[in-house]
Amino acid sequence: MKQSVIFFVREESFPFVMGEFSGFPNMKVKKIGYGAGIIEAEDAVLLQTIGNAGFLFIRHIHPVDHLASTLQDAIDYAAGIAHLLPTAGLSVQVIDLTREKREHALRFGILDHPAFAGHKAGAEGETVLSATMTEEGIYLGVSKASENLTPRAGGIFRYAFRDETISRAEFKLTEVFDFLPLDLPEDPRAIDLGAAPGGWTQVLLQRGARVTAVDPAKLDPRITANPRVTHYPGLSQDYLREHADERQFDILVNDMRMDARESVRVTLEALPLLASGAPLVVTLKLPEKKSLKVAREALDLIKSEVDVIFARQLYHNRSEITVVGRKRA
Ligand SMILES: C[S@@+](CC[C@H](N)C(=O)[O-])C[C@H]1O[C@@H](n2cnc3c(N)ncnc32)[C@H](O)[C@@H]1O
Repeated sequence: MKQSVIFFVREESFPFVMGEFSGFPNMKVKKIGYGAGIIEAEDAVLLQTIGNAGFLFIRHIHPVDHLASTLQDAIDYAAGIAHLLPTAGLSVQVIDLTREKREHALRFGILDHPAFAGHKAGAEGETVLSATMTEEGIYLGVSKASENLTPRAGGIFRYAFRDETISRAEFKLTEVFDFLPLDLPEDPRAIDLGAAPGGWTQVLLQRGARVTAVDPAKLDPRITANPRVTHYPGLSQDYLREHADERQFDILVNDMRMDARESVRVTLEALPLLASGAPLVVTLKLPEKKSLKVAREALDLIKSEVDVIFARQLYHNRSEITVVGRKRA
């Protein structure tokens, strides 16, 4: 039976997603709006197939059970299935890809309907009723949040700049911590490669870590002033040469601006410094051309020595993907 799934992607990464789909000739793919597309295939478990396929550039997915032609039709459809949805742990997630900004109108149109009187719904829930509004109509579907790749509407994680925010880059690491359970020991020791100006170091400090920040560039004075930070003002390669025999860190993060494959090589060189099973978070910077090829090569390289648990373009990634893994025991 034919199934459809909506996917979300960074608009600029659309060509790379299309490259990834070339490995799935049974899937018909069409763009439906800015940063979104629809996949059709004869596959009874299409959502799971896509979720398990390891797409690097797909951020979020949801199934399509119904295509509504109007807002009212979408509300009526949702009301009609309300009795099938759990009353607790439900989330109604709406994205409007048109210019009409009708997210609230639809979300509250659904939740204020008498059929949902007994339901409690939040921004995140175990069960998700997703609705994507397009020029062609409104695609609705119900799934488990875990099947959608992220628990947020469209995979969008918005964070506010606060007084203590050091750099926009720190949102990337916050996003990782927001949906991956990276359990750290008490008083964790962290190494941050390519740390300047210190956004990631700040995120690690907020999680109780003592941080060795490695970067020839200057750190923000608020970071340098923190007694839990040690700044090594040189290249990571030099740091690793000088500290080759020390096994001392519980987490490694790497946001170095360099060729993705080279960055992985440096990461692998740093493995002896990590405790067994320690998590690693690495941003792989991708070139404008051949992004998919470079990303796949870098990923294969890191997989040779690290158990990768996540590899994908995050909402806050630009021309890059984020890889999360654990040092093999
Ligand atoms: C995108 S910035 C890092 C931003 C940082 N994660 C933050 O949140 O503020 C990339 C950094 O990589 C550093 N870098 C590039 N090559 C490096 C190397 N070989 N060793 C150490 N740092 C390097 C640059 O100096 C630059 O500060």
